[in-house]
Amino acid sequence: QKHLLGIEPLHPTEITTLLDLSDRYAELGRGVVKHSDALAGLTQINMFFENSTRTQASFELAGKRLGADVMNMAMQASSIKKGETLIDTALTLNAMHPDLLVVRHPHSGAVDLLAQKVNCAVLNAGDGRHEHPTQALLDALTIRRAKGRLHRLTIAICGDIAHSRVARSNLILLGKMENRVRLVGPPTLMPSGVSEFGVEVYDDMREGLAGADVVMMLRLQRERMDGGFIPSEREYYHRYGLDAEKLSHAKDDAIVMHPGPMNRGVEIDGTLADDINRSVIQEQVEMGVAVRMAAMDLLARNLRESRASAGVMV
Ligand code: CP
Repeated sequence: QKHLLGIEPLHPTEITTLLDLSDRYAELGRGVVKHSDALAGLTQINMFFENSTRTQASFELAGKRLGADVMNMAMQASSIKKGETLIDTALTLNAMHPDLLVVRHPHSGAVDLLAQKVNCAVLNAGDGRHEHPTQALLDALTIRRAKGRLHRLTIAICGDIAHSRVARSNLILLGKMENRVRLVGPPTLMPSGVSEFGVEVYDDMREGLAGADVVMMLRLQRERMDGGFIPSEREYYHRYGLDAEKLSHAKDDAIVMHPGPMNRGVEIDGTLADDINRSVIQEQVEMGVAVRMAAMDLLARNLRESRASAGVMV
């Protein structure tokens, strides 16, 4: 692949190759020396038009651990504020010859559009409700390491599915790897047409969690609710918040996941989120660095090959 814009275009063997390399980078990340020179001489620019803690920090750390020159664009202080368009901003940065552009944008499809205008590899760090591919890949790696496999598992994705790019990328990836995916949440937060993805839909947490191997919780994404249905937090926690009683309906060894940021006492009980016997939330963060190292390494290899075959010095 030239870019990483979503999970949709990836073949299961490409997903497995990326996760295998991520495993190796996870081991490197636990070592005393955490560096490699896979991106030495390359320039990585991070453009985040939406807030981020985990994704931006881990892309920056991943690039630095691989030896890239990493620049974080402060989009709030950029000429976007003076009316410059996304495309003009991208063309301006493109003229500085970056090799990797990491982009998060509030509009679905914006990152794909940008990728068509530049000469470098583009990684989607989350676009609107569309895709968040590196999140789904880090979730897949966390599951594979915890369960020893990434197929024939029952995975319940719970909460605000309608506004979630994390849910969309995950259900595509987990479906490709032949898992049984359940979506659990209030009907008002369930997108129409999900059945075409071959998933099961539940509005009762206890039924949706019954016998699950993995329970993945999602935040209420109020910033994308457009003034529509916004449930009260108390009522939502009562019906859909994950606590020990609801989790008891899943398998005894079911793991609890959350992509963050987490709202304790809304979609998840804080004590459960911190329970290292069930929760793998901190491992998800750790695997985020490894997956982003692997994704940028593989894209850089393709970039170098295509430049070499075009006769460009690399
Ligand atoms: N999971 C995730 O995308 O978190 P951030 O918004 O903090 O990057």
